[in-house]
Amino acid sequence: MKAAERIIVALDCPERKAAEIARFLKGIASWMKVGMTLYYKSGPAIVAKLRGMGHNVFVDLKLHDIPHQVQGAAKAVVEAGANMLTVHASGGLAMMQAAVQGVEEAWSAKPAKGTVLDRYHTDARPKVLAVTVLTSLDDAVLHSVGVAANSAEQVALLASLARQAGCDGVVCSPQEAAAIRALWPEALIVTPGIRLEESGADDQARIATPDAALQAGADYLVIGRNITNQAEPGFAFEQIVHSIRAA
Ligand code: C5P
Repeated sequence: MKAAERIIVALDCPERKAAEIARFLKGIASWMKVGMTLYYKSGPAIVAKLRGMGHNVFVDLKLHDIPHQVQGAAKAVVEAGANMLTVHASGGLAMMQAAVQGVEEAWSAKPAKGTVLDRYHTDARPKVLAVTVLTSLDDAVLHSVGVAANSAEQVALLASLARQAGCDGVVCSPQEAAAIRALWPEALIVTPGIRLEESGADDQARIATPDAALQAGADYLVIGRNITNQAEPGFAFEQIVHSIRAA
């Protein structure tokens, strides 16, 4: 995989700006991420719009509810055109199994003519990733919400549950990627919390540079504000690609 194909651009901004960035990165980047900010404002149509530009789309809604609800939501997200989606691992084994089932239901059904799945069908089944511990949390926050384990222990525990549930991989901090790779070699590991050396952490706590995250075993890097908040997002994307290649 080329460096540019490993970067998932988090479009946590209004639709107009998101579309502008996605259009500019057409043929340059491979993955766009639609999170709550964009999805709740623009709806599922934004996923089809990005697929129409040739991007793979990661729909990061971090589903967390009773299994029946999560199954239906995962199915709907795949029908909207997602290539990858997230659930919170802390929702438990049955909830993650339900998400996998919802994805399989949507994927194995013959798509009706003219639907998003019919237009943008790809051979690979959409991936289900389990969010372990948000990269914005540190041990003190975990303890404040009643989790006695430290973040490394909690991530390892949730990753093994996700594996058992049939998920394809996890979202974790770059600082835990190597440990997960060791305990689950074939996991798809996606790491947010990526910051360039010269940029601040914003609201993220467990961060690393793009190169360090890849060295630690990440398959994909989620990068938002270090691209979208820059004066020239296209240039920022290229700079990150260059920093990975140079390393
Ligand atoms: O702007 P920044 O690069 O910090 O964006 C990180 C993105 O990764 C956000 O879209 C956020 O929702 C997502 N994310 C995260 N931590 C997780 C899972 C997803 O920051 N554990």
